[in-house]
Amino acid sequence: AHQWRGVIAEYAERLPAHVRERIITLGEGGTPLVAAPALSELTGAQVHLKVEGMNPTGSFKDRGMTTAVSAAAGRGAKLVICASTGNTSASAAAYAAAAGMVCAVLVPDGKIAMGKLSQAIAHGAKLLQVDGNFDDCLIAARKLAESYPVELVNSVNPDRIEGQKTGAFEVVDALGDAPDIHALPVGNAGNITAYWQGYSEYLESGPATRRPMMWGFQAAGAAPIVAGHPISDPETIATAIRIGNPASWTQAEHARDASGGLIEAVTDEEILAAHRILSRDVGVFVEPASAAGVAGILKLARAGRVPAGASIVVTVTGHGLKDPQWALRTADGAEITPVRISADVVSIADALEIG
Ligand code: F0G
Repeated sequence: AHQWRGVIAEYAERLPAHVRERIITLGEGGTPLVAAPALSELTGAQVHLKVEGMNPTGSFKDRGMTTAVSAAAGRGAKLVICASTGNTSASAAAYAAAAGMVCAVLVPDGKIAMGKLSQAIAHGAKLLQVDGNFDDCLIAARKLAESYPVELVNSVNPDRIEGQKTGAFEVVDALGDAPDIHALPVGNAGNITAYWQGYSEYLESGPATRRPMMWGFQAAGAAPIVAGHPISDPETIATAIRIGNPASWTQAEHARDASGGLIEAVTDEEILAAHRILSRDVGVFVEPASAAGVAGILKLARAGRVPAGASIVVTVTGHGLKDPQWALRTADGAEITPVRISADVVSIADALEIG
């Protein structure tokens, strides 16, 4: 029987040789591409979701972490460090644990979801809550890695992008070619960079005959690429993409322009509305940041900007269980609490209105 072997083994010939010297894998990648009829209906397009919450630590970060930590392990590194809004730290901590390395993480104080914080701590990371935002954490992590014996595993590390590009390979392998449009949330802009690289490599030497338009979506309160300048105090409920000065800014603009795509903003309300549709009408539970891509295609569809019948793949980047609090509120913000009832069939039938 065939078991998915993780992205390094599955795509060995398309990854740099140095990541194979000592492979650290948790079986990442091979995530489902799920048809979303509810979204196809709302947009007039053919929408599929690349469900990255199905990765070992529940986000797309695992694709790049297997390559970054394997490369570090191959060089004999003992300590890796990252700045993170949560998912990178959860992933780095897990892969470092598998490699027998120490992992240090810098996270913005009070602005990381409890599920992600728990993951990093569970996997034994040295977690430091920094008095500052993600951008401050990344500057500090980069400086530290320049002067101390520690390997930086943020997406500014090219090995991260190498692993993450496999998401694009899997989409093409599943659909037979690239879709018309690939939509995704944009934070530090590593993922849009990686998908574009993956699609480009598969066009150059692989099964693809074309590349998609890249549609990136930032949260309105944290949309530096849309604004055209860094945002010093980014704010959004989608804490994963609460980033004011993305490290891969120019690469993201390149992906946008070379693909004839776009990078636009969606409000927190639009993100939460998309989060709700994903949960209730598609059956896929994501964290808020992961709903930004869906919020984006819905917004553009309302504006008549989605070509009829277009094939669209949206990467939903992280699992809903990482930041579950958003499920427990109604659209207008009221708290949802379960109905309490006695273990009595008639009252239960009454409550279900099936009497
Ligand atoms: N979605 C989720 C769930 C994320 O965690 C991130 C980034 C993004 C989207 C944006 O991806 O940065 O490649 O543009 N999270 C990073 C972290 C910043 O530290 O976990 P990007």
